[in-house]
Amino acid sequence: MTTLRTPRLTLRRWREDDVAPMAAINADPEVMRWVGDGSARDRAATEDGIAAWEREWEQRGLGPFAVEVRETGRLAGMAGLTVPDFLPEILPAVEIGWRLGRPYWGRGLATEAARVVLDFALRDRGLARVVGVHAVGDAASEAVLRTLGMRPERETTHPAYGLPLCVHVIETRCA
Ligand SMILES: CC(C)(COP(=O)(O)OP(=O)(O)OC[C@H]1O[C@@H](n2cnc3c(N)ncnc32)[C@H](O)[C@@H]1OP(=O)(O)O)[C@@H](O)C(=O)NCCC(=O)NCCS
Repeated sequence: MTTLRTPRLTLRRWREDDVAPMAAINADPEVMRWVGDGSARDRAATEDGIAAWEREWEQRGLGPFAVEVRETGRLAGMAGLTVPDFLPEILPAVEIGWRLGRPYWGRGLATEAARVVLDFALRDRGLARVVGVHAVGDAASEAVLRTLGMRPERETTHPAYGLPLCVHVIETRCA
């Protein structure tokens, strides 16, 4: 069971009791503004999403983590790795991503989670390359990607939604 710890966060695999708090996060239009087509998701979609994230862990040995605040034990959201199947032009690739509930924004928590996820990808899983894809206009995610040391590689368009996207990348220089 893969668990990562930072000073303020625990990143762990998903549990049944994460569905309700993650559904509340996914139901917030402000949170979902830059995710996918920008629409909020209901509880059933959240349940399906968490099941899909857990399948990624089972099949690939990596996936999106549940992000828990250590002090309270509450679920703050998601941060982790996925294969960006929605964007075939950049495959094969592993993508880093995040989604936190609004009460957790503006405290450096996304950056704290993303740093330990990137370290997990590059050191623990030995990946030579990780990408980050953000919607053009999503300044917060762009700032996180830059802070991680990722560089903008290309602009493209979401194949399904027609929205402008920016692809960032980080590569290790030696084995
Ligand atoms: C993106 C997100 C994870 C950022 O979380 P956060 O914990 O507030 O981020 P941090 O506090 O670590 O801040 C990261 C950087 O973004 C900047 N930032 C935060 N919100 C911002 C905003 N609305 N506009 C511009 N910059 C912003 C911060 O100033 C910081 O920049 P710095 O490191 O240069 O000082 C959070 O807003 C979120 O979950 N949004 C909804 C889901 C989402 O859009 N996910 C990504 C797309 S799939």
